[in-house]
Amino acid sequence: MKQGKFITLEGIDGAGKSTQLAWIVELLQRAGLNTVVTREPGGTPLGEQLRTLLLDKSITMHPETEALLMFAARREHLDKVILPALTQGQWVISDRFTDASFAYQSGGRGLDGGKLAILEQWVQGKLQPDLTLYFDVPVEVGQQRVSQIKSVDRFEKEQADFFQRVRAAYLDRAKQFPERIKLIDSSQSLSEVKAAVERTLKVMLNHG
Ligand code: TMP
Repeated sequence: MKQGKFITLEGIDGAGKSTQLAWIVELLQRAGLNTVVTREPGGTPLGEQLRTLLLDKSITMHPETEALLMFAARREHLDKVILPALTQGQWVISDRFTDASFAYQSGGRGLDGGKLAILEQWVQGKLQPDLTLYFDVPVEVGQQRVSQIKSVDRFEKEQADFFQRVRAAYLDRAKQFPERIKLIDSSQSLSEVKAAVERTLKVMLNHG
C-alpha cells in the first residue's frame, strides 16, 4: 500500500492555524484521501495528559524538562498514531510537531538547539513532515487574537519578546528548510489565507 503523507501546521499562538485545519482536511478529502487529524503536545492518552501538565500555568518547570516532556509525548505520538496511519496510507495532519520545539524551547526559552537536534534524532530518526505550513503573523496580531481567549495557558501568558523570539526561530527554520516549510502570510483576510493554503496543497497533490 502507498505510504500516506505527513503534514504539520505551525505558527505562534494566535496565528490562526487551527482555523485552517478544517479547510485543509476538506481539501484533502475532496481529493479522495483518508485523513487523520492530530495535535502536539497530545494525540495519545499519555500525550494528552502530558499536554495538560505542559499547558498548566500553575506549574513551573525547567526549560529542559519542558523540552523532554514535549519529545516524550512525541515519541508516543509517533508510535501510536503517526507511523501506523502513514503505513496504512492515511494522510496525517498534525497541529504542531518538532519545528515547535525548535521555535518555543530553543527560540523562546533559549535552549541549545544542538540538544534538541539530539532528541529529534533519537525520537524520530530521519522522519520529517512531507510538508509544513507555517502560518506567519506579526506578534501583535497573534497576541491580539489570544487576548480574546478567556483563560490563557502557560505559553500564551508569555510576553511579546518571547513570541518575537519564537517567530524569529520559525522564520529561520523556514529559510533553512524551504522545500519542506511553506510560509503562509496569516495576517491576510481569511479567504486569502484559505486560497494560499489551497495553492500550496495543490502543488503537493500534483506532485503525488
Ligand atoms: P497549541 O496552543 O497550538 O495547541 O499548542 C500548545 C502550546 O504548546 C503552544 O503554545 C506551543 C507549545 N509547544 C511547544 O512549546 N513545544 C512543542 O514542541 C509543541 C508541540 C508545542
